[in-house]
Amino acid sequence: MILSGSASQTLAARLADELDESLGATTTKRFPDDELHVTVTEPIDERAIIVASTVSSDAHIELLQLQDAARQAGAEEVVTVLPYMGYARQDQTFEPGEIISTRAAARAISTGTDRVLTVTPHEKNVASFFDVPTTVIDGAPRLADPLPAALTDPLFLSTDAAAAPLAESVRDAYGAGDCDHLIDATDGERPAPTEESLAGRDVVVVDDIVGTGSTMSGSVAVVADAEADRIFATCVHPVFATGALSKIARVGAELIYGTDTLERVISDVSVAPAIADAL
Ligand code: R5P
Repeated sequence: MILSGSASQTLAARLADELDESLGATTTKRFPDDELHVTVTEPIDERAIIVASTVSSDAHIELLQLQDAARQAGAEEVVTVLPYMGYARQDQTFEPGEIISTRAAARAISTGTDRVLTVTPHEKNVASFFDVPTTVIDGAPRLADPLPAALTDPLFLSTDAAAAPLAESVRDAYGAGDCDHLIDATDGERPAPTEESLAGRDVVVVDDIVGTGSTMSGSVAVVADAEADRIFATCVHPVFATGALSKIARVGAELIYGTDTLERVISDVSVAPAIADAL
């Protein structure tokens, strides 16, 4: 049975479809003091697959309650799918006394599950923080799906070097084109590609996360100024804080989209098939 966190209902339904499993009935109430209260209303015979993006602190607590409720409902195995894992950026200490947030979150999640799957975590070593077997799924190949079949001399450009493997995943799934990444701006300079020329080409700008949209809009602006033809702006995790979409559209992106690891108006492609394969 698939159980869904409040932030992952569409993806949970798609996964249930992919796996031909039932979607369990759950409710999440909020008490007057703001505490969350989850109920799983059906018995679970064997495996419970909980799909919950931990995009907020509340979503974390809701997930821990879902895990506990699944066991209470009879689940023999609890699998936790984190389409988007929150608190996954701080994977080391930079200042004395700083918490490793990723480790703290992973340890808490591990206590209620037999296995974890997560999609394109921001830090690649995230799996090492869980105390249970953890599978990392690459969500980027799905980002090739909405692209037109005939791109002109396509270039798959990541917003920085760290995201370069994602651009390669999209290119490989698309089946043609070059890859490059932007190098960080220094001394008032703008970011620039390492070697590829952009003029007249269709450019697909790729990142793992779009949050405020500053990184993506800055990257799209560089590409537009270099006289690229069509520009596509895409990411695995569309956090898209208020204003991010228009910020990116304003500088010249023709199509802006992400996956359904987070439910947004531009969540045009689903990672459900990739999760189903990994399960
Ligand atoms: C940074 O390391 C990430 O890969 C993204 O580039 C970043 O999270 C995007 O954030 P924002 O949209 O706020 O610029």
